[in-house]
This record gives sequence, C-alpha cells and structure tokens, in this order.
Amino acid sequence: MKVGGRPLRPIRALPGRLGVEVIDQRALPHALRFETLCSAQAVATAIREMWVRGAPLIGAAAAYGMALQATQDASDAALQAAVTRLQSSRPTAVNLAWALQRMQRRLLAVPPAQRAQAAWDEADAIAEEDVQVNAAIGRHGLPLLQAVAARKSDPVNVLTHCNAGWLATVDWGTATSPIYQAHAAGLPLHVWVDETRPRNQGASLTAWELGQAGVPHTVIADNAGGHLMQQGQVDLVLVGCDRVAANGDVCNKIGTYLKALAAHDCGVPFFVAMPTSTLDLDLADGQRIPIEQRSGRELTHVSGRRANGGVVEVVEVQLTPDGSAAGNPAFDITPARLVSGLVTERGVVTADEAAIRRLMGTP
Ligand code: MRU
Repeated sequence: MKVGGRPLRPIRALPGRLGVEVIDQRALPHALRFETLCSAQAVATAIREMWVRGAPLIGAAAAYGMALQATQDASDAALQAAVTRLQSSRPTAVNLAWALQRMQRRLLAVPPAQRAQAAWDEADAIAEEDVQVNAAIGRHGLPLLQAVAARKSDPVNVLTHCNAGWLATVDWGTATSPIYQAHAAGLPLHVWVDETRPRNQGASLTAWELGQAGVPHTVIADNAGGHLMQQGQVDLVLVGCDRVAANGDVCNKIGTYLKALAAHDCGVPFFVAMPTSTLDLDLADGQRIPIEQRSGRELTHVSGRRANGGVVEVVEVQLTPDGSAAGNPAFDITPARLVSGLVTERGVVTADEAAIRRLMGTP
C-alpha cells in the first residue's frame, strides 16, 4: 500500500541483508517511525512490545528474526534458543509458531554453513507469500461486498475491529484487503472503525491506513457497534483473526465476540478474513487457545497527541483512580456458530470442521 504516494511495507529486509527495517507501530498515527532490528532478540522485543503486531506480521517478523540469528550463529543450539525466545514473545497468534516451524524445518535440512542464505531466502518467501495470500483474500472477499452493493444505492457499510489491515500483514491486510480492492474498483463503501480499547489499534492504525488510501471511514467507540447494527447502519462485519481452531471457532482481538453476538442478533453477516497460516488444526476448539494477558497499564493509561504551541508531542495520561486493579485479556473467542464464513486465500468457507478440512485437503 502507499503512504503519501510512496509504496510502503511494515517490514522489509535491508539491502545486503544487514538487518530488518520495521515501522514502529507504537508511534502511529502521530509519526511514521522506522526502526532497524539486527538480532533475533531485538525482533522478539519488537513483537512483545508491539512495534510490530498483527498475526501475519508477527509470523513474518519471527522468520526474519531467525534469519538474523542464522547470520550470527547458525548452530542447532543457537537456532533452537532463538526459536524458544521468539515463540515466547506473544502466545495467541498461531502464525508465530507456524513461521518458526517452517524456518526450523528449512534450516535443519541444510548444513550450518548454508543456513544464513537459506534463512533469508525462506523469510523473504514467507513475506512474499503473505502478500499474495492477502491479495487472494481480497479477491474472494470482494464479491461479498459487491453483493451488498447490488442491493442498495447507498455506500456499503462495513464494520471492522482492531487492525487487520496492511500494517498487520506484509501488505494488503486481511480484513481490509476486500475493502481496498472494492475501493479500487469504484464500489462506494464506508467503514465503521471500532476504536478497539485498550490499545486502540482501530482508532490509531486502521483509521490511519484507511485515510492514507482515501477510504471513507468513521471511528466509533467500541460500545457503538451494536446500536449501529440495530439501526441498520452496518451491512457486514469483516474482522481478522489470530487463531482459528479446527471447529471454526475464531480467536481475535478482545471485543470481537461482542460484535459477533450483536451481528447475530441483528441478522448482520459476520465474516472473518483468515489466511490459512492462522488455522490451527491441532486445536479441536477455541477454548483451548491461549489468551494473552497484557499489562493493566494499557488500560489505566492512554497516550495521545498534544499540540504545544508549534510543537507536537505525544503524552501519556492516567484514566483510572490510583489503586484500582485493571485486567487486560487481549483476545476472545467467537464461537463458529456466530461466523457467517471464513474468507481465505482459497475461497470462502463455512466455519465448520468438515468444510475447513475439505478446503485444506486434510482428513
Ligand atoms: O494485539 P494485536 O494488535 O496484535 O491484535 C491484532 C488482531 O487481533 C488482528 O485482528 C489479527 O491479528 C488479524 S491481523 C491480519
């Protein structure tokens, strides 16, 4: 996607494979800041502290972390230590384990002297495949939006949660890919952007992305979605996911479940954009997915921009009383029965085990 007319990705290998450049997403939307990561440890920190975030991007970042490790020390022991460190950086999105397993398989198949080159090649392949996968999700999701457009004269109203946009992937985004493709095709649409407390990925990242692409959008409080659905102002909900269990239960950013319940009650279709790298066929259902518990400070404090004369500064302020405890589960599970369909790179599939296994060609 483009920022200020310039094509940009949230991650890229630097020329000469000397490091990995990422957008530090903590600074958005107030500043577009780039950071260079030069070790697997630095990548693990960037994932844990959410400079990079979003399931597919975490996977790609971890793959580049392995490439950095293989450049420094490609012994079996060093690679295993890097896998352990990267794997522990965030627990919920399965793309992390998926990418690390793929990297490990590739690297252990060749002698140590060849591992650095193989690791960079494989990490580049994972990144490029992510771009193609997300483009395909957009192609498969586009007809869902076109079908709504065919029934009404006003713009199609899509509601999305968190950021499943290009910042959360290597390009296109997952949930945003059909939106970007519809916008490019001239289909009139408007996106309701859930602010997505407590970290506000919707308000700060999705809104920024859509603005850069010229897609009409409105940021709403997380609590507003149900009301808008009751008022007939949402045609379709389209969200991303961090892990989907074999039975089609969907794990995504906290608050997704409430939107699915409201959508079900109001008869609004609820679709989930799912690259198949986010599918975990080893887990029978969503209740077994590990839910990340993040710091209460993400809840008790909020940061934002303050114009101080001509100088723009980002400040953090406290919201809650001193001494109040804060709980911060970062993801929730939407049962498969509330999901209208999974939009994958292979097509749209029902959120049910038999259909998913057929799609994947897995008995
Ligand atoms: O905690 P985050 O910001 O990494 O959570 C991201 C989400 O929940 C996204 O919806 C999900 O990863 C899909 S990204 C294409």
